[in-house]
Amino acid sequence: MKSFYLTTPIYYVNDAPHIGHAYTTVAGDVLTRWHRQRGESVWFLTGTDEHGQKVMRTAQENGVPPQEWADKLVENAWKPNWQALNIANDDFIRTTEPRHMERVQKFLTSLKDAGFIYEGNYEGPYCVGCEEFKLPGDLIDSDGAKLCPIHSKPVEDVKETNWFFKLSAFAQPLIDHYKSNPEACQPESARNEVLAFLEGGVTDLSISRSTFDWGIPVPWDTNQVVYVWFDALLNYATAVGLTDDPESEGGKKFAQTWPADVHLVGKDILRFHAVIWPAMLMAAGLAVPKKVFAHGWLLVGGEKMSKSKLTGIAPSDITDHFGVDAFRYYFLRAIPFGTDGSFSWEDMSARYTSELANDFGNLASRLAAMVEKYCGGVLPAVAHDESLSSALKECVDKADTAIAALDFQGGINTIMDYCKRVNGYVTSTEPWILAKDPANQRAVEDILYNTAESLRALSVLLHPVMPATTEILWESLGANDSLGAIGAQKISEIARWGQLPAGAAITKTPVLFPRLEVKE
Ligand code: ME8
Ligand code: MG
Repeated sequence: MKSFYLTTPIYYVNDAPHIGHAYTTVAGDVLTRWHRQRGESVWFLTGTDEHGQKVMRTAQENGVPPQEWADKLVENAWKPNWQALNIANDDFIRTTEPRHMERVQKFLTSLKDAGFIYEGNYEGPYCVGCEEFKLPGDLIDSDGAKLCPIHSKPVEDVKETNWFFKLSAFAQPLIDHYKSNPEACQPESARNEVLAFLEGGVTDLSISRSTFDWGIPVPWDTNQVVYVWFDALLNYATAVGLTDDPESEGGKKFAQTWPADVHLVGKDILRFHAVIWPAMLMAAGLAVPKKVFAHGWLLVGGEKMSKSKLTGIAPSDITDHFGVDAFRYYFLRAIPFGTDGSFSWEDMSARYTSELANDFGNLASRLAAMVEKYCGGVLPAVAHDESLSSALKECVDKADTAIAALDFQGGINTIMDYCKRVNGYVTSTEPWILAKDPANQRAVEDILYNTAESLRALSVLLHPVMPATTEILWESLGANDSLGAIGAQKISEIARWGQLPAGAAITKTPVLFPRLEVKE
C-alpha cells in the first residue's frame, strides 16, 4: 500500500530555528498524526539544507568550516528543537549525507543523458539570502541599489559559465497540469500566482556554480557544484530512494512513497516547489507531487520574521511560558493556513485562558471531581444523550474534511465548538444541584457518563494537535485499559457512542493548562 507522504522544507542551517520554521513543521506533524489516526500509513520527512553560499558565508563569519558549522547546528539546535516540540518525523535528511549526494549526482547525470542539461553563460542578479537568480522585475529600487524584496539586501551580480536545465520546455506542461489539477497547488491564491508566472514566460535555469565549492560536485565537471536549490529540492526524493534499483530496499521504498502527497512550504519558496521541482521530475519521467501547499508568513512589524534579519522568536521563548501543546495549538488555531499572521503575546494569553484552560481543561477537571464526589471515582452505567452524540458525529465529519484539506483552523474550531457544547450541557443540566436529592442519582450518573464520553472523543480529536495533554486526559478517563493507546484510536470510530466502559476508574489529573504566571 502506498504511504501518505508528507514533507516540510529542509531548512537552512545558517542559524537556529524560529517560530516560523516551527509553524510549518508543527502543521506537518498535526497532519501526519491525523492521517495516522485515519488508519493510513504515513511517512513524514523533515531535514536541513546545508550547501550554498548562505551557509558557507555564515560558517566563514564564525571561523569554522561549513561542515562543522552544519553539524553543530543540526545536533545542538534543529534536532533538539523538533524533539522538544514533539515532532513525530520518520526521517531527517541532511543534504551533506552521502545517501543524498550520490543520488543527486545520479539524477543529474540521467537528465544530462536525456538531453535536458547544456552548457551556457549566466549573467544577472543573485540574492544569497534566497539563494535565487532574480529577474530584474523581482527587485526593488533603493537609491540606485537593487534590493531583494524579501531580505531587503542588495543582490549580487553573477557572471559565470554554468550548466543549464531546460526549464522553459516545461512551462506549457506545467500550465496544463495546474489547470487540470487545481488541488496540485494550494491555496487558490498560490495557484493563481504560479499560473501567472508560468504564463509570463519561463527561461532556462542555471543549475551549477563555479565560484565557490561548498556543494555537490557536478559529476562530469568537478570545477562546478550543483546549484543549492537543485540539490535541495531533490531531498524529497533522495530520502526515499530515488534512482535506486527497483529491486533494492531503496527502490521499494520509493515505489511505496512517491509521489509525495503534500509538500508543505511557506509562500517565500512557492515558485521553487511549484515550477522548478515538478519540471525536474517531468524531465526525469517521474510523477509530480500531488499537492504543494504554500502557507502564509508569521510577521514581525509587518515583515516576514527571518533568521537573516534577526527578527526570529525562538520557540522556547513561547513554550517556556505556555507549554508545548499550547504552542502547537495556538498558531494553527489563530491563523488561517495560507494567510499571513502576527504573533501576539496578548492574543495567545487570551486564547490559552479562555479556550484551553477554561473550555477544555476545566471540563476535564470538573468531570473528574464530580465522578469522585457523586460516583466514588467510578464511571457509572453507559448513557446516551442523543443530541450530544449527533453533534459529535457532525463534528468528526467536519473536522476530518477540514484537516484533510489543510484547513487546520476550521478543523480545530469545529472541535472546540463541540467542547463548548459539552460545557453548555453540563452547565444547563446542573448535576451539582440534582445531586442534592438522592432520588436524582440516576440522572446525575447519566450526565456524568455523557460528559466523560464526550471527553473521550475530544481527547482523540485533539490528540494530533496536543499529543501530551490529551494523553494525560486519556489516562485519567481510564481509557488506556479499556480502549488501548490514544494514538491507536481511529477517526472513523470516534463518534461511536458508549465506548468508555461502566466501572472505569476516573482519576483526577494534574491541571491540564495551569494558570499563567504573570509575565514581567
Ligand atoms: O527556504 N513565517 O529554508 P529556510 C512562516 N532551505 N514560515 C516561515 C517563516 C515565517 N516568518 N520563516 C521561515 C529555505 N518559515 C530552503 C528550503 S526546501 C527544498 C529548501 C518557514 O530556512 C517556511 O516554511 O529559509 C519557509 O518556507 C521556510 O521556513 C524557509 O526556511
Ligand atoms: Mg528563508
